[in-house]
Amino acid sequence: MSAFVELFCGLGGVSESVRQFNCVHSDERALNVIRAVDINRDCAAVHEHNFGLAVDCRSLESMNLHEITATHPHQTWWLSPPCQPYCRRGRGQPQRDRRCDAIQAITRFLARSDTLPSVVILENVPEFASSQDAADLRKALGQREYATWSGDLCPTQFGVPNLRRRHYLIARRDAGEVASPRIAAPTRQWNFPIASILDEDAQTAPELWVDRAIVDSYRTSMDIVDPDDVSARAACFGSGYGKSIIRSGSYLRRGDRVRRFSPTEVARLLGFSPQFRFPDRIGVRRRWKMLGNSVSVFVVRAVLESASPAVARSAGPR
Ligand SMILES: C[S@@+](CC[C@H](N)C(=O)[O-])C[C@H]1O[C@@H](n2cnc3c(N)ncnc32)[C@H](O)[C@@H]1O
Repeated sequence: MSAFVELFCGLGGVSESVRQFNCVHSDERALNVIRAVDINRDCAAVHEHNFGLAVDCRSLESMNLHEITATHPHQTWWLSPPCQPYCRRGRGQPQRDRRCDAIQAITRFLARSDTLPSVVILENVPEFASSQDAADLRKALGQREYATWSGDLCPTQFGVPNLRRRHYLIARRDAGEVASPRIAAPTRQWNFPIASILDEDAQTAPELWVDRAIVDSYRTSMDIVDPDDVSARAACFGSGYGKSIIRSGSYLRRGDRVRRFSPTEVARLLGFSPQFRFPDRIGVRRRWKMLGNSVSVFVVRAVLESASPAVARSAGPR
């Protein structure tokens, strides 16, 4: 099994992807999550509840990253740094945004350290690709002789009725080139309809229903999905779902009323398996927030497929 390190682990979308990846690859390609780091205690609690690994609840920029590389000779690092500094809504000046300190510290480590992970994978919003932080990271990886692939991927390219375009970068130190993730041939049908992810319990949850007056005011800007329409797809769910009415995710038409997707439904759309659960004490708003910061498990699995040959051979230079 190859050592896998989940940095900025959040609630564990990448650990969930690894768990599903390992169900298909119970061979030498299987991945073993040895470490997960996230500064947020709620995220750590959900991660631990599901994956049983004690999350290192610290800021990455305060850590000595040699601590991580010292434990296993060949490692894959997954990086999902905060996207708000780069995305249109939260756009500021990333170089002066403290939320970028951790990715900048990791880049400095990759540029200078004499012990390096064999594989580095990064996921972020598409706008990250044109940032100075991305340029610095690419430069460091190039200087340390990583081969890279980068591009934007969306679950819709994998037959999933959910928009979530994200930028991915795969870097391998033990191979001449990195294969791009395999995208499904386009068809006119989704792999599953929205109706199949509906949670019957959600119908009776009062906090999910949207007031008629709000629907009347925002009708033209809300993305309202009819689950009986097999061609329907949901918008990207962001961390503000349940707080902001527009541009934070889709709504469901149920008869003459409209309701939000429940956290269980959002998790299903992202590809989490039924065994994934939140601790009872985590309320619905915080569940939406964490899911909005998470990943499409469908896409991450495809990215792992592409990056895994390096993991399997694990014989490259350090
Ligand atoms: C985009 S989310 C990643 C989500 C994750 N991939 C998932 O599936 O839930 C970014 C995460 O980075 C964490 N984070 C932000 N700044 C951090 C820092 N300086 N050190 C460690 N973690 C940090 C946040 O708490 C958040 O959970």
